[in-house]
Amino acid sequence: MTTTHPNLVFSGMQPTNTLHLGNYLGALRNWVKMQDQMPCIYCVVDMHAITQDSGYGHAKDLSQSTREVTAAYIASGVDPARSILFNQSQVAAHAELAWVLNCVGRLGWLDRMTQFKEKSGKHKERSSVGLYTYPVLMAADILVYKATHVPVGEDQRQHLELARDIAQKFNNDFDAPDFFPLPEPVIMGTATRVMSLRDGTKKMSKTDESDYSRINLTDDADAIAQKIKKAKTDPNPLPDSEKGLEGRPEAENLINIFAALAEEPREKTIAHFAGQTFSVFKNEFAELAVEKLTPIAAEMRRLLADKAEIDRILKAGAEKAHAIAAPIMADVKKLVGFVG
Ligand code: TYM
Repeated sequence: MTTTHPNLVFSGMQPTNTLHLGNYLGALRNWVKMQDQMPCIYCVVDMHAITQDSGYGHAKDLSQSTREVTAAYIASGVDPARSILFNQSQVAAHAELAWVLNCVGRLGWLDRMTQFKEKSGKHKERSSVGLYTYPVLMAADILVYKATHVPVGEDQRQHLELARDIAQKFNNDFDAPDFFPLPEPVIMGTATRVMSLRDGTKKMSKTDESDYSRINLTDDADAIAQKIKKAKTDPNPLPDSEKGLEGRPEAENLINIFAALAEEPREKTIAHFAGQTFSVFKNEFAELAVEKLTPIAAEMRRLLADKAEIDRILKAGAEKAHAIAAPIMADVKKLVGFVG
């Protein structure tokens, strides 16, 4: 089907703990690039952040993380003068549309979501209902603006397929062909799935118990160098071909991260380090990571010194986001049959 929807980017990150290298290389850096291609809306998804940890004791952390993630977006190059930047809870249309979409999506679809299975673990019945319907809120985030492109890491692919299914079903159910676009995932670069520095078969994650498993965007030069020095490797020298990375998850992960940070094709990184020991590789890797990441941390610190300014940016962004979402939500209400 040809779509009549103008290009528009939407994406978001959860303000739970500090952002890490996976968030940066898998998503954030691509967000910055997309600002040159089409209008962009970037959200701090604070409503998603309460699906796992909330209540007394978490509220202060949530406000702090929301400001920190906002600072990370800006320090990485998201420009609030060009892109809309706000936190989700300030635009009520997300929650309103999520309810309607909860009634469009099917239980069977949600039952298949692998992230829910991972996050709920052995105690599914003790998970919040919000954690279960999390992907529906995510669909609402995107569709409430009729966004067409969603830059994310590989782990969000299934959620985006669900968003497309929900959009399609809404259009069919309400006899409104092409009302919602079917949003496309934009998964680009060599670091679409950055793995843990302690275990090359596990995703780098904000919630891993070991801080040595990830490089945080707030880490200083010493911490970055230490984490790279301690990163798990294997006993062999680095290979001279793509094929030589097969069955070597740690080597592959480190090469992928290096190539992404250096913004060069993977083959170039492989050729550069062919036959070298990990210790030679790690020295150059640490230097590169420090050079690329410490300016972001410094800029974040500078921005976080003025909380009022961050809050002002979020509020101004929320007003712009609301102005786009409100007429779309009004059309949804009409289609559904809500009076008023
Ligand atoms: P979140 O907060 O878990 O992650 C934010 C972004 O970072 C990417 N990412 C990674 N990329 C590569 N390697 C990794 N190890 C890695 N870890 C995380 C994620 O793919 C994501 O792009 N559900 C989303 C937030 C969300 C959203 C949305 C995204 C809510 N509504 C609407 C897009 C559109 C999430 O939890 O991301």
